Amino acid sequence: MKHVARIGALALLLGTWAVQVEANSGDIQYRQAVFQAIGGHMTALVRIVRREVPHTDDAAVHAAGIADLAPLTRHIFPEGSGEGRTDALPAIWNNADDFARRRDAFIEAAEALRGVAGGPMGEFVPAFQNLGGTCQGCHDNYRAD
Ligand code: HEC
Repeated sequence: MKHVARIGALALLLGTWAVQVEANSGDIQYRQAVFQAIGGHMTALVRIVRREVPHTDDAAVHAAGIADLAPLTRHIFPEGSGEGRTDALPAIWNNADDFARRRDAFIEAAEALRGVAGGPMGEFVPAFQNLGGTCQGCHDNYRAD
């Protein structure tokens, strides 16, 4: 009887673990999907800024897409989502103040880009470069290569 109880407890434990792993991978996959969406808009903007395509008017759509998505980075790094199939480094949670500063700089830069979208390219390009710098600043410190 004792034996059965033990097996029961083990099954319960494994069950809970399985659910946690699933929840964790959902968090990770959601986060990566959000970044892929941001990355898609950035790639499109690179093509526009380099004048490889004539869709200058689309720049405002992509800038707005990034500005809308940027604040999601406030909640897509829940505790425990640094383990699994992720490139998010433990420093995100160990160095939370610096991470938050970089995240806020990114949100601000995305909002600034939205603000100059539709105006002259001479204002858009520096704001775009500034935004790109905030991506890299975070990736260099908090994302595995
Ligand atoms: C505050 C930190 C931070 C900022 C700012 C940031 N990123 Fe990231 N990014 C990350 C982290 C951490 C990951 C790894 C996520 C994971 O694997 O769970 C990531 C992953 C990605 C990925 C890969 C997603 C995948 O498929 O796994 C892309 C693409 C990306 N970021 C693009 C960008 C772009 C473009 C910007 C700027 C416009 C940006 N990021 C700004 C932290 C940041």
